[in-house]
Amino acid sequence: MSNIILSQVAIHEKYGGVVPEIASRNHIYDISEVVDASLSDAGVNLDDIDAVAVTYGPGLVGALLVGLSYAKGLSFAINKPLIGVNHIEGHIFANFIAHTALEPPLISLVVSGGHTHLVYMKDYSNFQILGHTKDDAAGEAYDKVARCLGLTYPGGPKLELLAREGNPNALDFPRAMITENNLDFSFSGLKSAVINYLNKMNMTKQPTNFADVAASFQQAVSDVLVEKAIRACKENSVATLALCGGVACNGFLRANLENAAVNNDISFYVPTKILCTDNAAMIASRGYYSLNSGYTHTLSLNAVSNLKIGERV
Ligand code: KG4
Ligand code: ZN
Repeated sequence: MSNIILSQVAIHEKYGGVVPEIASRNHIYDISEVVDASLSDAGVNLDDIDAVAVTYGPGLVGALLVGLSYAKGLSFAINKPLIGVNHIEGHIFANFIAHTALEPPLISLVVSGGHTHLVYMKDYSNFQILGHTKDDAAGEAYDKVARCLGLTYPGGPKLELLAREGNPNALDFPRAMITENNLDFSFSGLKSAVINYLNKMNMTKQPTNFADVAASFQQAVSDVLVEKAIRACKENSVATLALCGGVACNGFLRANLENAAVNNDISFYVPTKILCTDNAAMIASRGYYSLNSGYTHTLSLNAVSNLKIGERV
Protein backbone atom coordinates (compact mmCIF):
# COMPACT_ATOMS: atom_id res chain seq x y z
CA MET A 1 0.00 0.00 0.00
CA SER A 2 3.02 2.24 0.39
CA ASN A 3 6.78 1.81 0.14
CA ILE A 4 8.73 4.75 1.54
CA ILE A 5 12.49 4.56 0.87
CA LEU A 6 14.85 7.03 2.48
CA SER A 7 18.27 6.58 0.90
CA GLN A 8 21.50 7.55 2.70
CA VAL A 9 23.58 7.28 -0.49
CA ALA A 10 24.27 11.04 -0.63
CA ILE A 11 25.57 10.96 2.98
CA HIS A 12 27.94 8.01 2.47
CA GLU A 13 29.03 8.81 -1.11
CA LYS A 14 31.96 10.97 -0.04
CA TYR A 15 33.39 8.10 2.06
CA GLY A 16 33.18 5.62 -0.85
CA GLY A 17 30.94 3.22 1.13
CA VAL A 18 28.63 2.91 4.11
CA VAL A 19 30.07 4.20 7.43
CA PRO A 20 28.27 2.11 10.11
CA GLU A 21 28.11 4.75 12.89
CA ILE A 22 26.85 7.45 10.52
CA ALA A 23 24.25 5.01 9.12
CA SER A 24 22.88 4.22 12.62
CA ARG A 25 22.66 7.89 13.60
CA ASN A 26 20.80 8.80 10.45
CA HIS A 27 18.36 5.93 10.96
CA ILE A 28 17.56 7.44 14.39
CA TYR A 29 16.97 10.89 12.89
CA ASP A 30 14.64 9.60 10.20
CA ILE A 31 12.76 6.52 11.42
CA SER A 32 9.68 8.20 12.94
CA GLU A 33 9.16 10.34 9.87
CA VAL A 34 9.47 7.32 7.56
CA VAL A 35 6.89 5.34 9.55
CA ASP A 36 4.49 8.33 9.60
CA ALA A 37 4.94 8.82 5.84
CA SER A 38 4.29 5.12 5.14
CA LEU A 39 1.00 5.24 7.06
CA SER A 40 -0.22 8.47 5.48
CA ASP A 41 0.84 7.36 1.99
CA ALA A 42 -1.18 4.15 2.47
CA GLY A 43 -4.12 6.13 3.87
CA VAL A 44 -4.27 4.04 7.06
CA ASN A 45 -3.61 4.61 10.75
CA LEU A 46 -2.04 2.37 13.39
CA ASP A 47 -5.43 0.77 14.26
CA ASP A 48 -5.69 -0.58 10.71
CA ILE A 49 -2.48 -2.60 10.64
CA ASP A 50 -2.26 -6.26 11.71
CA ALA A 51 1.36 -6.52 12.84
CA VAL A 52 4.78 -4.85 12.82
CA ALA A 53 7.44 -6.56 10.70
CA VAL A 54 11.07 -5.53 11.09
CA THR A 55 14.48 -6.70 9.84
CA TYR A 56 16.54 -8.25 12.66
CA GLY A 57 19.43 -9.56 10.54
CA PRO A 58 21.73 -9.97 8.74
CA GLY A 59 23.36 -6.54 8.57
CA LEU A 60 25.15 -3.83 10.53
CA VAL A 61 24.15 -4.33 14.13
CA GLY A 62 23.81 -0.61 14.96
CA ALA A 63 21.45 0.01 12.08
CA LEU A 64 19.47 -3.16 12.85
CA LEU A 65 19.06 -2.13 16.50
CA VAL A 66 17.54 1.23 15.58
CA GLY A 67 14.80 -0.42 13.52
CA LEU A 68 14.30 -3.29 15.94
CA SER A 69 14.02 -1.04 19.02
CA TYR A 70 11.56 1.22 17.24
CA ALA A 71 9.49 -1.74 16.03
CA LYS A 72 9.41 -3.30 19.50
CA GLY A 73 8.24 -0.01 21.02
CA LEU A 74 5.57 0.36 18.36
CA SER A 75 4.38 -3.25 18.69
CA PHE A 76 4.10 -2.85 22.49
CA ALA A 77 2.35 0.52 22.26
CA ILE A 78 -0.32 -0.58 19.78
CA ASN A 79 -0.53 -4.15 21.10
CA LYS A 80 0.04 -5.82 17.74
CA PRO A 81 2.34 -8.80 17.02
CA LEU A 82 6.03 -8.26 16.31
CA ILE A 83 7.52 -10.25 13.40
CA GLY A 84 11.29 -10.39 12.98
CA VAL A 85 12.28 -10.77 9.34
CA ASN A 86 15.48 -12.04 7.72
CA HIS A 87 16.65 -9.35 5.27
CA ILE A 88 17.69 -11.87 2.59
CA GLU A 89 14.39 -13.73 2.83
CA GLY A 90 12.80 -10.29 2.41
CA HIS A 91 14.59 -9.86 -0.92
CA ILE A 92 13.15 -13.20 -2.13
CA PHE A 93 9.63 -12.23 -0.97
CA ALA A 94 9.76 -9.01 -3.05
CA ASN A 95 8.89 -11.37 -5.90
CA PHE A 96 5.52 -12.21 -4.32
CA ILE A 97 4.52 -8.53 -4.34
CA ALA A 98 5.49 -8.11 -7.97
CA HIS A 99 3.99 -11.46 -9.10
CA THR A 100 0.89 -12.33 -7.09
CA ALA A 101 0.40 -15.75 -8.74
CA LEU A 102 3.97 -16.85 -7.98
CA GLU A 103 4.27 -19.68 -5.42
CA PRO A 104 7.03 -21.96 -4.11
CA PRO A 105 8.68 -24.33 -4.89
CA LEU A 106 11.16 -22.09 -6.65
CA ILE A 107 14.87 -21.42 -6.97
CA SER A 108 15.95 -17.89 -6.08
CA LEU A 109 19.16 -16.17 -7.11
CA VAL A 110 19.80 -13.47 -4.49
CA VAL A 111 22.39 -10.93 -5.64
CA SER A 112 22.98 -7.90 -3.42
CA GLY A 113 25.81 -5.77 -2.04
CA GLY A 114 26.44 -8.21 0.79
CA HIS A 115 25.13 -11.57 -0.49
CA THR A 116 25.17 -13.90 -3.47
CA HIS A 117 23.10 -17.01 -2.82
CA LEU A 118 21.23 -19.70 -4.71
CA VAL A 119 18.30 -20.73 -2.54
CA TYR A 120 15.85 -23.59 -3.04
CA MET A 121 12.62 -22.36 -1.46
CA LYS A 122 10.43 -25.43 -0.98
CA ASP A 123 7.58 -23.63 0.77
CA TYR A 124 7.15 -20.27 2.50
CA SER A 125 9.29 -21.26 5.48
CA ASN A 126 11.63 -23.92 4.07
CA PHE A 127 14.86 -22.67 2.52
CA GLN A 128 17.84 -24.73 1.40
CA ILE A 129 21.02 -22.86 0.46
CA LEU A 130 22.34 -24.58 -2.67
CA GLY A 131 25.35 -22.32 -3.13
CA HIS A 132 26.85 -19.00 -2.11
CA THR A 133 29.85 -16.80 -2.74
CA LYS A 134 33.14 -17.87 -1.19
CA ASP A 135 34.43 -14.27 -1.05
CA ASP A 136 32.97 -11.04 -2.52
CA ALA A 137 29.26 -10.66 -3.21
CA ALA A 138 28.32 -9.78 -6.80
CA GLY A 139 27.31 -6.21 -5.81
CA GLU A 140 30.53 -5.77 -3.85
CA ALA A 141 32.54 -6.78 -6.95
CA TYR A 142 30.50 -4.31 -9.02
CA ASP A 143 31.15 -1.50 -6.53
CA LYS A 144 34.89 -2.22 -6.20
CA VAL A 145 35.49 -2.47 -9.96
CA ALA A 146 33.39 0.66 -10.50
CA ARG A 147 35.59 2.51 -8.04
CA CYS A 148 38.70 1.52 -10.03
CA LEU A 149 36.98 2.90 -13.14
CA GLY A 150 36.55 6.25 -11.36
CA LEU A 151 32.82 5.83 -10.65
CA THR A 152 31.39 6.98 -7.30
CA TYR A 153 29.64 4.76 -4.70
CA PRO A 154 27.44 2.83 -5.24
CA GLY A 155 29.10 2.10 -8.56
CA GLY A 156 26.94 -0.84 -9.73
CA PRO A 157 24.31 1.20 -11.59
CA LYS A 158 26.95 3.57 -13.05
CA LEU A 159 29.06 0.64 -14.26
CA GLU A 160 26.01 -0.76 -16.03
CA LEU A 161 25.51 2.54 -17.90
CA LEU A 162 29.21 2.70 -18.87
CA ALA A 163 29.11 -0.95 -20.07
CA ARG A 164 26.38 -0.06 -22.60
CA GLU A 165 29.04 1.86 -24.57
CA GLY A 166 31.52 -1.05 -24.53
CA ASN A 167 32.16 -4.43 -26.13
CA PRO A 168 31.45 -7.34 -23.72
CA ASN A 169 33.82 -9.60 -25.68
CA ALA A 170 36.75 -7.14 -25.78
CA LEU A 171 38.55 -8.65 -22.78
CA ASP A 172 38.57 -12.22 -21.52
CA PHE A 173 38.20 -11.93 -17.73
CA PRO A 174 38.03 -15.13 -15.60
CA ARG A 175 34.73 -16.91 -14.90
CA ALA A 176 35.74 -18.44 -11.55
CA MET A 177 34.20 -21.78 -10.56
CA ILE A 178 31.98 -21.89 -13.67
CA THR A 179 32.99 -25.46 -14.53
CA GLU A 180 33.20 -26.72 -10.94
CA ASN A 181 30.68 -29.29 -9.87
CA ASN A 182 28.98 -27.10 -7.24
CA LEU A 183 26.67 -24.07 -7.08
CA ASP A 184 29.08 -21.71 -5.31
CA PHE A 185 30.55 -18.47 -6.64
CA SER A 186 33.77 -16.48 -6.33
CA PHE A 187 34.17 -12.90 -7.55
CA SER A 188 37.36 -11.65 -5.88
CA GLY A 189 39.62 -13.18 -8.58
CA LEU A 190 37.60 -11.42 -11.28
CA LYS A 191 37.88 -8.13 -9.41
CA SER A 192 41.68 -8.62 -9.09
CA ALA A 193 41.97 -9.50 -12.80
CA VAL A 194 40.26 -6.21 -13.73
CA ILE A 195 42.48 -4.22 -11.34
CA ASN A 196 45.64 -5.94 -12.66
CA TYR A 197 44.60 -5.20 -16.23
CA LEU A 198 44.00 -1.52 -15.42
CA ASN A 199 47.37 -1.27 -13.62
CA LYS A 200 49.22 -2.94 -16.50
CA MET A 201 47.68 -0.57 -19.06
CA ASN A 202 48.50 2.39 -16.84
CA MET A 203 52.12 1.37 -16.23
CA THR A 204 52.79 0.64 -19.91
CA LYS A 205 51.09 3.93 -20.80
CA GLN A 206 48.61 2.26 -23.13
CA PRO A 207 45.19 3.82 -23.67
CA THR A 208 42.41 1.99 -21.79
CA ASN A 209 38.84 1.72 -23.02
CA PHE A 210 36.94 1.88 -19.70
CA ALA A 211 33.62 1.02 -21.38
CA ASP A 212 35.12 -2.22 -22.78
CA VAL A 213 36.47 -3.09 -19.31
CA ALA A 214 33.03 -2.46 -17.75
CA ALA A 215 31.20 -4.47 -20.44
CA SER A 216 33.66 -7.40 -20.27
CA PHE A 217 33.49 -7.48 -16.45
CA GLN A 218 29.69 -7.43 -16.58
CA GLN A 219 29.66 -10.27 -19.12
CA ALA A 220 31.91 -12.40 -16.87
CA VAL A 221 29.67 -11.83 -13.80
CA SER A 222 26.53 -12.55 -15.79
CA ASP A 223 27.94 -15.74 -17.39
CA VAL A 224 28.69 -17.32 -14.00
CA LEU A 225 25.39 -16.27 -12.38
CA VAL A 226 23.33 -17.49 -15.35
CA GLU A 227 25.18 -20.82 -15.67
CA LYS A 228 24.82 -21.71 -11.99
CA ALA A 229 21.21 -20.49 -11.61
CA ILE A 230 20.03 -22.58 -14.56
CA ARG A 231 22.03 -25.56 -13.32
CA ALA A 232 20.41 -25.19 -9.85
CA CYS A 233 16.95 -25.39 -11.46
CA LYS A 234 17.84 -28.42 -13.58
CA GLU A 235 19.60 -30.37 -10.81
CA ASN A 236 16.61 -29.92 -8.50
CA SER A 237 13.94 -30.30 -11.22
CA VAL A 238 12.47 -26.90 -10.38
CA ALA A 239 11.03 -24.95 -13.32
CA THR A 240 10.62 -21.60 -11.54
CA LEU A 241 13.49 -19.12 -11.12
CA ALA A 242 13.16 -15.86 -9.15
CA LEU A 243 15.92 -13.23 -9.30
CA CYS A 244 16.18 -10.63 -6.49
CA GLY A 245 18.48 -8.23 -4.58
CA GLY A 246 20.04 -4.91 -5.58
CA VAL A 247 22.08 -6.36 -8.48
CA ALA A 248 18.77 -7.65 -9.94
CA CYS A 249 18.27 -4.02 -11.09
CA ASN A 250 20.96 -4.74 -13.69
CA GLY A 251 19.25 -4.85 -17.07
CA PHE A 252 22.00 -6.95 -18.67
CA LEU A 253 21.67 -9.67 -16.01
CA ARG A 254 17.86 -9.56 -16.11
CA ALA A 255 17.86 -10.03 -19.89
CA ASN A 256 20.53 -12.76 -19.94
CA LEU A 257 18.88 -14.77 -17.17
CA GLU A 258 15.46 -14.44 -18.75
CA ASN A 259 16.81 -15.65 -22.14
CA ALA A 260 18.54 -18.63 -20.56
CA ALA A 261 15.41 -19.49 -18.56
CA VAL A 262 13.19 -19.36 -21.65
CA ASN A 263 15.65 -21.58 -23.57
CA ASN A 264 15.47 -24.14 -20.75
CA ASP A 265 11.67 -24.06 -20.25
CA ILE A 266 12.02 -22.34 -16.89
CA SER A 267 9.57 -19.60 -15.82
CA PHE A 268 11.50 -16.48 -14.87
CA TYR A 269 10.46 -13.83 -12.32
CA VAL A 270 12.09 -10.61 -11.15
CA PRO A 271 10.55 -7.75 -9.15
CA THR A 272 10.31 -4.18 -10.46
CA LYS A 273 13.59 -2.34 -9.81
CA ILE A 274 12.28 -0.37 -6.84
CA LEU A 275 11.52 -3.69 -5.12
CA CYS A 276 15.01 -5.09 -5.89
CA THR A 277 17.12 -2.62 -3.90
CA ASP A 278 16.59 -2.47 -0.14
CA ASN A 279 13.02 -1.47 0.68
CA ALA A 280 10.40 -1.88 3.39
CA ALA A 281 7.66 -3.47 1.27
CA MET A 282 9.71 -6.66 0.84
CA ILE A 283 10.05 -6.92 4.65
CA ALA A 284 6.29 -6.46 5.01
CA SER A 285 5.76 -9.18 2.37
CA ARG A 286 7.95 -11.65 4.27
CA GLY A 287 6.19 -10.60 7.52
CA TYR A 288 2.76 -11.26 5.98
CA TYR A 289 3.61 -14.90 5.19
CA SER A 290 5.20 -15.37 8.63
CA LEU A 291 2.06 -14.03 10.32
CA ASN A 292 -0.11 -16.37 8.23
CA SER A 293 1.88 -19.32 9.50
CA GLY A 294 1.68 -18.10 13.11
CA TYR A 295 5.36 -17.21 13.33
CA THR A 296 5.82 -14.08 15.48
CA HIS A 297 8.39 -12.90 18.03
CA THR A 298 8.36 -11.64 21.61
CA LEU A 299 9.77 -8.30 22.72
CA SER A 300 13.00 -10.06 23.75
CA LEU A 301 13.99 -10.43 20.07
CA ASN A 302 17.55 -9.18 19.50
CA ALA A 303 19.45 -8.18 16.35
CA VAL A 304 21.49 -11.00 14.76
CA SER A 305 24.09 -9.47 12.45
CA ASN A 306 25.05 -12.79 10.84
CA LEU A 307 21.55 -14.33 10.65
CA LYS A 308 21.39 -17.18 8.11
CA ILE A 309 18.61 -17.72 5.57
CA GLY A 310 15.98 -20.01 7.08
CA GLU A 311 17.47 -19.68 10.60
CA ARG A 312 14.88 -19.29 13.37
CA VAL A 313 15.49 -17.69 16.76
O1 KG4 B 1 20.11 -5.28 -2.03
P1 KG4 B 1 20.82 -3.98 -1.98
O2 KG4 B 1 20.02 -2.72 -2.20
O3 KG4 B 1 21.56 -3.81 -0.61
C1 KG4 B 1 22.14 -4.88 0.05
O4 KG4 B 1 21.38 -5.60 0.78
O5 KG4 B 1 23.36 -5.08 -0.15
O6 KG4 B 1 22.02 -4.09 -3.05
C2 KG4 B 1 22.91 -3.02 -3.27
C3 KG4 B 1 23.92 -3.46 -4.32
C4 KG4 B 1 25.08 -2.49 -4.49
O7 KG4 B 1 26.30 -3.22 -4.51
C5 KG4 B 1 24.80 -1.86 -5.85
O8 KG4 B 1 25.96 -1.42 -6.53
C6 KG4 B 1 24.14 -3.00 -6.57
O9 KG4 B 1 23.28 -3.57 -5.60
N1 KG4 B 1 23.38 -2.54 -7.74
C7 KG4 B 1 23.71 -2.83 -9.02
C8 KG4 B 1 22.76 -2.16 -9.84
N2 KG4 B 1 21.89 -1.49 -9.03
C9 KG4 B 1 22.28 -1.73 -7.74
N3 KG4 B 1 24.69 -3.59 -9.52
C10 KG4 B 1 24.76 -3.71 -10.86
N4 KG4 B 1 23.92 -3.08 -11.72
C11 KG4 B 1 22.91 -2.30 -11.26
N5 KG4 B 1 22.09 -1.69 -12.11
ZN1 ZN C 1 19.52 -5.92 0.64
